[in-house]
Amino acid sequence: MTEEALSSLLAQMTVREKLGQLLQLTPEYFGHQDDHTALTGPESIEPLPHSDRGYVGSVLNCTGAAQTRTIQQTHLNLDRNHIPLLFMADIIHGYQTIFPIPLALACSFSEQNAQTSARIAASESAAAGIHVTFSPMADLVRDPRWGRVMESSGEDPLLNCRMSAAAVRGYQQPSAQEPGVLAACVKHFAAYGAPEGGREYNTAELSSCAMEESYLPGYQAALQAGAPMVMAAFNTIEHIPATANIPLLRGLLRERWGFQGVIISDYNAVEELIAHGVAKDGRAAAACALNAGVDIEMMSTQYLTHGEDLLRSGKLQEEELDSAVLRVLRLKNSLGLFENPFPQPELSQEDARLSAMRHAQTARRIACECPVLLKNDHLALPLQPDECVGLTGPFASERHILGAWSAGQTEGISLWEGLSAQFPHSQLRLASCGSLGSLLDGMEDIAPLSEADLRKQLQDCQKVLVAVGEHPDDTGEGASKTNLRLSPRQEQLIHLLKAMGKTVIAVVFSGRPLELLPILSDCDAVLQAWFLGTESGSALAEILLGHVSPSGKLAMTFPRTVGQIPVYYAQLRTGRPVRDGLRTRYASRYLDCPNEPLFPFGYGLTYGTCQVSGLSVQNDCIQVQLCNTGSYPVTETVQLYTAQKTASIARPVKQLRNFRRVPIAPGEQIIVTFPNTQALYCYPRGGKQVFEPGSFSIMAGLDSAHLLCATQEMTQAHFDQLRKDAL
Ligand code: GLC
Repeated sequence: MTEEALSSLLAQMTVREKLGQLLQLTPEYFGHQDDHTALTGPESIEPLPHSDRGYVGSVLNCTGAAQTRTIQQTHLNLDRNHIPLLFMADIIHGYQTIFPIPLALACSFSEQNAQTSARIAASESAAAGIHVTFSPMADLVRDPRWGRVMESSGEDPLLNCRMSAAAVRGYQQPSAQEPGVLAACVKHFAAYGAPEGGREYNTAELSSCAMEESYLPGYQAALQAGAPMVMAAFNTIEHIPATANIPLLRGLLRERWGFQGVIISDYNAVEELIAHGVAKDGRAAAACALNAGVDIEMMSTQYLTHGEDLLRSGKLQEEELDSAVLRVLRLKNSLGLFENPFPQPELSQEDARLSAMRHAQTARRIACECPVLLKNDHLALPLQPDECVGLTGPFASERHILGAWSAGQTEGISLWEGLSAQFPHSQLRLASCGSLGSLLDGMEDIAPLSEADLRKQLQDCQKVLVAVGEHPDDTGEGASKTNLRLSPRQEQLIHLLKAMGKTVIAVVFSGRPLELLPILSDCDAVLQAWFLGTESGSALAEILLGHVSPSGKLAMTFPRTVGQIPVYYAQLRTGRPVRDGLRTRYASRYLDCPNEPLFPFGYGLTYGTCQVSGLSVQNDCIQVQLCNTGSYPVTETVQLYTAQKTASIARPVKQLRNFRRVPIAPGEQIIVTFPNTQALYCYPRGGKQVFEPGSFSIMAGLDSAHLLCATQEMTQAHFDQLRKDAL
């Protein structure tokens, strides 16, 4: 439709019809009971009266082409204006083919993986009639007590920007092999990833510098990549809930960033302005959210209930309402809904089979690049072809390993299945120990294990894989925890295996950094497996058997203890830094714990032996030599950091400025080159990129803690000569 046609459509709509375009509900609220519709929030509203069932603009989280087709047809028959519904869903890390959780994907430090997995998710979900995904979640996170870190790209602004933008490109740029567009809705604007205490839905109190430098760039990168929608967050910013936050939504998002797309509330968040204490009732809540610029109300009906009265009383101007409705109509138009409101014809059985196979192969390759090898003493890994290997722990043969937000799916290939398919059965010994319950269900720890049983079942094995972790249902939304340790019996199992003289290899399934210090000394090797999706067990077997070296690097710091949190690499300097060797109480440290984390951002081992050397800073580039003196072909991620010695505001001790995955063969030496651009020497302040001449440290290495360093004096003239990069 043309812009004129949209305007004339708007002109013929009644107020109630306009308000209906701003309402999003799950299918059962207008008569479609279906087990595909998993509620993702509290059920708080009465079903709409039959008379109102035509007044809805979009549908949340229904899945399957048959269901979307039926709902669409029913609605078009009801709606006098024949305006198609938008179907939106949480396609976070896959739809039919489930990929590693976003935090694991970020550990691959591969924008290509983010784009490829999003493209396949888009192709599969568009075929089911879904038009919009509530992804990427660009919330920066630095507190693993918060359950939704699994859905993020971790603690670093640059990595968050790169992965979020790549996901948007993947969702929105169809290819011949993978057709179908899925519009990206960036969330949760803003700073939902910084709840105080790591407690879900809690307030986020951040300085404007922290917002601008760390917490906002990810959303902006996703919008610059073309995302047409933003979801407002549940939390307060500067004591105002994002859903009613005019400075945030109108001031920053619309006016400063020039965003003209659709803003949607989070689930029931409009009504929850009452609980926040900023609206005395539903009518006031609707006024707050509409006047803040929230176009669509998700899963509460305050707009439809009170909108006409707000117009009559002057609490809402009709041009505001019209602007909101026009943005929704434009989004529907941009997705071609007026021409084709129904899902594409389904693939033939053979094409569907080939497509599923292709997607599974891609999911397996990507899943191989996400696990992080945290420890590998005495070359415990990889397993050798002639070894007899034990496998125990609650995740040994567990298939419920997809993690949160898996589009209604729960099962992937288990570790046991993956190993059994690639390793002689006669050399595997499975010592089952029952499954782990979830905290939500009262936390059934694993069954107590007798040493005698374990000795008997594992008597032929020197090496034992112990698959441990947290229940997948204890990650994601509504899953904050104060205790990040493995359950008591999982820790006891590891201690017992060590006491039995076994070579203990821990494989950790989790959606967040766990507190691994209590078991670290008992393990010869630790592989952080995350939740890797459909091909989980197959990918882990590839790594454990040495078919491919682990190559993941931590996108989020692992603390020694929960008491250190928040602990992340890009901390600001303090006036009393710890000076090596100086034992004074008057320094920024703890009496009972080092400041350093257990494993730093960017850390991850491979089966190779790689070093960097020869860092050189030249006018147009920065170079460092990578060599692999080991016997394994590996992929290393070379990281470039900078630090500014003095500036008008305190600066982080270091900041990631670029990174590159580099495949390197045994004995090979590679010169890795990064562009030397203005972006390396700037920081954001007041909406601009600021350069202040002075001394900079340029650092390069294979994690954020062990870096080569060169000093670079930067004058204004030197800065002006440098290439302008995408800042
Ligand atoms: C949830 C989440 C949000 C999700 C939405 C729809 O409460 O906060 O991320 O997209 O509801 O399911």
